[in-house]
Amino acid sequence: MSFRLDGKTAIVTGGGRGIGKAITKRLAGAGANVVIASRKLDALEAAVQDCAGLDGKVAPVVCHVGKADQLQNLVAETGKLFGPVDILVNNSATNIGQGPALDVSDEALLKTMEINVLAVHRLIRLLVPKMIERGKGGSIINIASIAGLRPQPGGLCYSFTKAGLIMATRIWAMEFGKHGIRVNAICPGLIQTDFSEYFWKNDEHMARLKATQPLPYLGQPEEIGGMALYLASDESSYVTGQTMVVDGGATAR
Ligand SMILES: NC(=O)c1ccc[n+]([C@@H]2O[C@H](COP(=O)([O-])OP(=O)(O)OC[C@H]3O[C@@H](n4cnc5c(N)ncnc54)[C@H](OP(=O)(O)O)[C@@H]3O)[C@@H](O)[C@H]2O)c1
Repeated sequence: MSFRLDGKTAIVTGGGRGIGKAITKRLAGAGANVVIASRKLDALEAAVQDCAGLDGKVAPVVCHVGKADQLQNLVAETGKLFGPVDILVNNSATNIGQGPALDVSDEALLKTMEINVLAVHRLIRLLVPKMIERGKGGSIINIASIAGLRPQPGGLCYSFTKAGLIMATRIWAMEFGKHGIRVNAICPGLIQTDFSEYFWKNDEHMARLKATQPLPYLGQPEEIGGMALYLASDESSYVTGQTMVVDGGATAR
């Protein structure tokens, strides 16, 4: 058993900043070669610079996860750069359409489903048959949210798609387990990134968090990285279909 990932190839979507970058650093720090994928090349390139000197290599591939052809290109480019994929971290997400449920448009719901769930399904369809054929197993880590475990009023699109991702994770785990492919979800609580600034810049929200959360502070992206490394590595060899909550105890109440 080991937390080392030497010789492994990983894809981290949204690896250019926030939680995805923190995960990338842990995986590359453990020796994996990591392709980071998102829409903005400048952010990806800055993250590659940040990862210089780690044990594994990090390379950028521009990819809008909502576009099927760009996902195909991501898988093809990763193969050319680092060989067959062992670890897939589905971390890119969107949170549009916030507001009362009755105001949620068809477009907002469909777009959120496309980025937060369909893109993951498409990547899995592209990669898992190759993992099965290769016969060396694999680890798939889906970044969900505690918003997928308990309802977030005003967050229909986001909570619904994250709940869907959690359930899909369990189904994928059940179907792929016999091939040694493990599929797990991580549910972060509030973590300080661009994505969540609406909440952590809100004094009232932060006061409530500090008064009620067992670990009474705002989580940092690095605090998700360790769980991702655990799930990617052999140390979690008997763990699949699970939802790992990393939320400072927010949902323990
Ligand atoms: N921060 C929190 O409090 C929190 C809590 C629970 C769950 N999460 C989850 O954690 C994950 C990472 O979020 P974060 O907080 O680290 O946010 P972030 O710092 O805003 O990063 C989001 C990443 O997703 C990428 N992305 C967004 N749309 C994309 C698209 N269409 N195609 C490809 N990449 C796309 C972004 O890159 P580009 O802009 O370059 O495309 C960026 O790298 C998400 O799944 C989020 O739901 C976050």
